[in-house]
Amino acid sequence: MIIQENISLLPYNTFRIDAWTRYMAFPATTDEIVSLLKSRQQEFNPKIVLGCGSNILFTRNFEGLIIHPEIKGIEVVKETEDYVLVRAGCAENWDDFVKFCVDNDWGGIENLSLIPGTVGASPVQNIGAYGVEVKDVVEKVEAIMIETSKKRTFSAKECSFGYRDSIFKKELKHKCIITHVTFRLNKQHIFRTHYPDLEKELDKYPDTTIQYIRDAIISIRKQKLPDPAQLGNAGSFFKNPIVSSDKANEIRRFYPSMPAYKAGENEVKLSAAWLIETTGWKGRKIHNVGTYKKQPLVIVNYGNATGKEIIDFAKKIQQAVKQQFGILLEPEVNIF
Ligand code: EPU
Repeated sequence: MIIQENISLLPYNTFRIDAWTRYMAFPATTDEIVSLLKSRQQEFNPKIVLGCGSNILFTRNFEGLIIHPEIKGIEVVKETEDYVLVRAGCAENWDDFVKFCVDNDWGGIENLSLIPGTVGASPVQNIGAYGVEVKDVVEKVEAIMIETSKKRTFSAKECSFGYRDSIFKKELKHKCIITHVTFRLNKQHIFRTHYPDLEKELDKYPDTTIQYIRDAIISIRKQKLPDPAQLGNAGSFFKNPIVSSDKANEIRRFYPSMPAYKAGENEVKLSAAWLIETTGWKGRKIHNVGTYKKQPLVIVNYGNATGKEIIDFAKKIQQAVKQQFGILLEPEVNIF
């Protein structure tokens, strides 16, 4: 396995930050990952895995080894009248995979259309959009443990999924390499169309099918979110904060129209976009960095911003929201 040296990460992160990595490897099979880990265990530390870099912000050069797996392939491992189990390689492009499933009339991930990233990254932060999270359809996740080079399979339960969260972001952060994900998709469709934006967009279509849901979501996302191919960004920069009902009621006394969604017993999810907009940071720009004019939760690299400039800008937003609402916005993007 060839390990390349001094590689620019510019093509490997959608924020388009020109950081560098000391070492980088591109294993194309599970065996190549195993032999890479076995032969070079003591060298090249630390090690991290990078898919297509759509949820990462590099604030400095990386002194270790970046493993960029290139495992491809999609196969049906089981099919019944009601469902199909589909196993995909970690390097498959997420939206190509969604398209493939919708083309085959397999339902469950159509609401997750056009999310940038790879299949292997999808369970890490439990990607979600328009009322669906990938945890709803993950059957199992196959990985290789970095320290032991051993294969390990995780059931959905073992992944400990939460809102934009999983075991791969917590206990197992930087400890394993996801190689394959198996999804359970429906042949008898259950449409999830209750999200207000989606309901409105679907009115333009003659019928409800998973193909129309995909088309509607692509259309909404294109209207609201910047295309990373044109404007560097990593989607939502912050998570939507979950606060106690008491805290939400306290804010509501001053802002009666604040959006809030039930998130559990006595807990409420607030809209980070609304909080940011209300502090006056929607569409604001400092040098090369700004919040997107149509969705302030997205921070955009408008030029040749460095990771440091982006993180400084994000901190200013955090301060403004903290000062006005007493809430600390937590980054959703991985920061290095
Ligand atoms: N809002 C504003 N101002 C805005 C935009 C939104 O006040 O400029 C408020 C509105 O009240 C709106 C609410 O925020 O109803 C929710 O907005 P939106 O539907 O755009 O969703 P979001 O909460 O901002 C989340 C995800 C997105 C996902 C959308 C759609 C997180 C951190 N983000 O954003 O995911 O696409 O819902 O389901 O949960 C991502 O994770 O990178 C991402 C883009």
